[in-house]
Amino acid sequence: MTTTTPVEEDGVKRRDFLYIAAGGVGAVGTALAIWPFVDQMNPSADVLALSTTEVDIGAIEEGAEITAVWQGKPVFIRHRTADEISAAESVDVASLPDPQADSDRILKPEWLIMIGVCTHLGCVPLKESGDFEGWFCPCHGSHYDTSGRIRKGPAPTNLAVPPYEFLDDNTVKIG
Ligand code: FES
Repeated sequence: MTTTTPVEEDGVKRRDFLYIAAGGVGAVGTALAIWPFVDQMNPSADVLALSTTEVDIGAIEEGAEITAVWQGKPVFIRHRTADEISAAESVDVASLPDPQADSDRILKPEWLIMIGVCTHLGCVPLKESGDFEGWFCPCHGSHYDTSGRIRKGPAPTNLAVPPYEFLDDNTVKIG
């Protein structure tokens, strides 16, 4: 018959905890570090300059978001809710660190399309996070609003908006 002593049980639990904790740190570290590595494998600048990306946005429900890739960069495509649009439009633009009206950042209010690279040092911000319920960059604490504008933290400018156009109601061409 096999018995397990309390000491062994405690030891197993402690090892499990350490493993989980270490795994958690590893996952975060990988997520934060992977962008520069992927970025180095991109094609040369002259090839990138010509490229465009077409994205089917028909399945993105209101309040949802996908990340496309354009010229080797992540591009956030968010189907904004009425509340997100209202929050973005009701800001006193002059009070912003990088003053820009929401209307100057979109073609259609329900679609916010921007490059998902923090303008501080290049991390990829997290959606639906931060003090302004937009995006939050955990690297050094930059908070972006529901228009992707910098509101608090070290990032100097708003998340960049790439050139894009709607080919039809369900297709956007970036670039
Ligand atoms: Fe985003 Fe520093 S890279 S806050």
